Amino acid sequence: MKLSDTQELQLSHRSVRRFQSRPLDEGQLETLIRCGQAAATSSFIQAYSVVRVTRPDVRSVIAEAAGGQPWIVAAAEFLVFCADLNRVERACGRAGQGALEGFAEHAVAAIVDVALMAQNLLLAAESQGLGGVYIGGIRNAPDAIADQLGLPDQVVPVFGMCLGWPDEDNAVKPRQPVAMVLHQDRYRECDEAEFDDYDATMNAYYRQRGSNARVADWSSVTARAVQGKKREHMLGFLQARGFFRR
Ligand SMILES: Cc1cc2nc3c(=O)[nH]c(=O)nc-3n(C[C@H](O)[C@H](O)[C@H](O)COP(=O)(O)O)c2cc1C
Repeated sequence: MKLSDTQELQLSHRSVRRFQSRPLDEGQLETLIRCGQAAATSSFIQAYSVVRVTRPDVRSVIAEAAGGQPWIVAAAEFLVFCADLNRVERACGRAGQGALEGFAEHAVAAIVDVALMAQNLLLAAESQGLGGVYIGGIRNAPDAIADQLGLPDQVVPVFGMCLGWPDEDNAVKPRQPVAMVLHQDRYRECDEAEFDDYDATMNAYYRQRGSNARVADWSSVTARAVQGKKREHMLGFLQARGFFRR
């Protein structure tokens, strides 16, 4: 089966962290936002907002808060994607219904919504030759991000995204084999040999890649990442903003 142009594009995705100084074209960002908004949204609640950060001083603060990620300052655009139940709550008030009560289900819907919106936007950007990278590092200091951006209650910054014209051409990172992630009828635990094979694939990738070459495999990189990023402030932050209270 021949791949469609969209599939070719999807399969060639890689994050971009080095950018040319060239800005996006006139109107390009607005179109990308519209492409993001075209994604499906739970019950049509459209529970997301995007804050475009243009001020260099604010970008610097965010880059530091995110653990020192200079591409946040250098990218043509830096966007903060928020799960946003603020307008949903306003709609409830306008319709004479009660306020949201912090149900976990609503928070999940909003977080899913913003992720779908962002990925649609990134793919649209990549289809125009732009590149980008998500920035989960903003969750290191979500209170500081919310303060910097003036986010009201019921609005949670979930991740950022750098966007711009790429100044690097990284290799595509091999994903797990389809058999590891596609289950038929019942969930099947992967066997150790599947982990071994994928670890070997990733070990070869990490050894060969041009920039940031290192000796590692998927299991060790993943274990290190999740141990190092527990962000224990997260539940308290979310609850203070009105998410996950019940
Ligand atoms: C929600 C999310 C948060 C991420 N946060 C960061 C980040 O803070 N900094 C970074 O350099 N990359 C970040 N990434 C990029 C991932 O590291 C990257 O997507 C992954 O290693 C796969 O590589 P690829 O996108 O090049 O295929 C993030 C990706 C996602 C989806």
